[in-house]
Amino acid sequence: MKLAVIEGDGVGKEVIPVALEVLDAFGLDVEKVPLELGYGRWERTGAAITDEDIDLLKGCDCVLFGAVTTPPDPNYKSVLLTIRKELDMYANIRPIRPLPSIKGIHDRTDFNYIIVRENTEGLYSGIEEIGEDVSTTKRVITRKGSKRIADYASKLAGSRTNKLTIVHKSNVMKSDKLFLDVCRQSATDAGVTPSDELVDSFAYNLIRNPWNYDVIVTTNLFGDILSDMSGALVGGLGLLPSANIGEKYAFFEPVHGSAPDIAGRNIANPLATVLSLKMLLEWHGDMAEAGILEEAIDTSLNHGICTPDLGGKSSTSEVGEFLANYIKTR
Ligand code: NAI
Ligand code: MG
Repeated sequence: MKLAVIEGDGVGKEVIPVALEVLDAFGLDVEKVPLELGYGRWERTGAAITDEDIDLLKGCDCVLFGAVTTPPDPNYKSVLLTIRKELDMYANIRPIRPLPSIKGIHDRTDFNYIIVRENTEGLYSGIEEIGEDVSTTKRVITRKGSKRIADYASKLAGSRTNKLTIVHKSNVMKSDKLFLDVCRQSATDAGVTPSDELVDSFAYNLIRNPWNYDVIVTTNLFGDILSDMSGALVGGLGLLPSANIGEKYAFFEPVHGSAPDIAGRNIANPLATVLSLKMLLEWHGDMAEAGILEEAIDTSLNHGICTPDLGGKSSTSEVGEFLANYIKTR
């Protein structure tokens, strides 16, 4: 496997080395291609990402990504938006499930749902007009874009409990009527029973009763917000992994950002990135390794080996050492 590795900015530089230490512990045949992208590089060279970088990424089988800082500077083109678009990775998969010994906001831990977020259009279309007094961002919903994410989510629902919740705001934004209609049709075609909810009340229902949901499909910005919110259910943003999947490429990254407030202190939780590595292994068909990694994570948490955000005393690198040792000595 040829793996592009992007640390990015902030805590990305601390959590990716942990994921690589864990990956190395398996001794798999992996060619790593390191790539510097992001705000730090922009400050240094004036380019956060170039066409050559995209070509290099396209030459790899998949990507492991840390996090980047995105300044609100209108001249700065978001690295992630560029990559997701250029590599056409339309599905952003964000599984939400509790881990052993870690409490979120509920005592109940019997929930396990997946947010399937459309990743290439919606309010992240990048079509904007920035003016002195009026600034606009165009929300783009296409039949093609909606159908492929709906088909992905319907298939996923079919492989789980056959339950699909479509989250939208079509009462106010008429662009969402197209999204809703296409999703309903796709679900019906796949033999899955769809239900749908308006995003505002859905957010309330999800945080109160997460056990009522299984596969959730939604547009770009809603999926972004709902997944960060879901961090509160499982014990923090440091625990949420994700995969960006397209027809040709796959890209794995933690849901969280560069966390400048804690960067450089060796206290960032590496588990979101390690769990993203687990998704990568599963995607690549390394099921035995993915299973062992899950075991290693469970064991570390059951022994209280975790970072301060989870109430632990371990550093980022100590968590990495524990996981790598567990894998090597198993
Ligand atoms: P953030 O996700 O970086 O941080 C939000 C909060 O969660 C902070 O209090 C942070 O300390 C905490 N947190 C995040 N990751 C953690 C970890 N691994 N362990 C422990 N605590 C963790 O979001 P924020 O602060 O809104 O954005 C910071 C920068 O990151 C911005 O420049 C933003 O544009 C960028 N960003 C990048 C993303 C990416 O690269 N995928 C995603 C989200 C934001
Ligand atoms: Mg986000």
